[in-house]
Amino acid sequence: MAQLHIVGCGAIGSLLAAGAEKHNVNYSLYPRSAVSADIPGSAVWLDGKTFSLNGSVLPPQSLSANDVLIIPLKVYQLEEALTQWLPFLNQKPVVVLLHNGMGGQEIAQSLLGDHYPLLLATTSHGALKKRTSRNVSQVIFTGSGSITIGSSQPESIDIVTDLDNLENSKNKLIVACDLLTRVLPPVTISNDILYALWSKLAVNAVINPLTALNDVPNRAICDECYSELRHQICQEFVDVAASCGQRFDLRAIKNTVLEVATATGNNFSSMHQDIKYKRQTEIDAINGYIVTMANKKGISASTNALLVQRVKALSANTRLITSQR
Ligand code: PAF
Repeated sequence: MAQLHIVGCGAIGSLLAAGAEKHNVNYSLYPRSAVSADIPGSAVWLDGKTFSLNGSVLPPQSLSANDVLIIPLKVYQLEEALTQWLPFLNQKPVVVLLHNGMGGQEIAQSLLGDHYPLLLATTSHGALKKRTSRNVSQVIFTGSGSITIGSSQPESIDIVTDLDNLENSKNKLIVACDLLTRVLPPVTISNDILYALWSKLAVNAVINPLTALNDVPNRAICDECYSELRHQICQEFVDVAASCGQRFDLRAIKNTVLEVATATGNNFSSMHQDIKYKRQTEIDAINGYIVTMANKKGISASTNALLVQRVKALSANTRLITSQR
């Protein structure tokens, strides 16, 4: 029986732990590093009901080939977290990356090797963490969405000559999908997870920096005053994605951004929360990734570059103001 192992206690890691607790799925929770352990003590579900989280919180341990290690960490946290797991992955349990932005796959493969059974996932579930009046960490499920999961190397599944490898990759994907479906449904398998990740990149590239810079909830991004910026960010995204072999229709991607901003309207984006709580943002993996790819391909991405600068300046300024208090 596949066991669920969750690395990191951020909002989505804690939400997965809460989903496992709620649906009686065995799980273990691991702090992302030896110095960071904001373990959630309770959860508030969509129906408003509160329950305690009782799963075991452990240091890294050897996993078996059937286990699923899901890593809902930010891209900049991945290298440290995965490095501490390396000695425990000899039996090749499936590893699932779940983060905003891009660049995580490259980090994971440089550590695990190109042929490691690596799955990539993206989610539209909404969650946030807060401290209760008793100063205990609590995760709140703020909006129901879905999880999309796929193989980092779908082409390896098409190599019919390597039947063992084919079966192995497919099995791992099905095992992870079944387990996550029991924890936090619905979960969809994508045959082109990279396309799904690029699509989410566009959503994050518009909503996250604009909500963080303007201190507004997601729904505000639909306002007319952001129309030109939405257009420019998406136009640059579409050009860069095309140069990387991913075709998007400009009008369709602008609509997707508006749909997500409306569906998650009352939420504050993760980047807004990162600025508010003076944490490092994911700007390098989101707009920064678009700029890096644009530079590599000789394309202009000046609006995304400006957003990277502004968000970094805001982060630095917020930290400075706090440290002067
Ligand atoms: O990063 C986030 O906050 C989320 O990915 C999204 C979709 C923008 C909703 O808030």
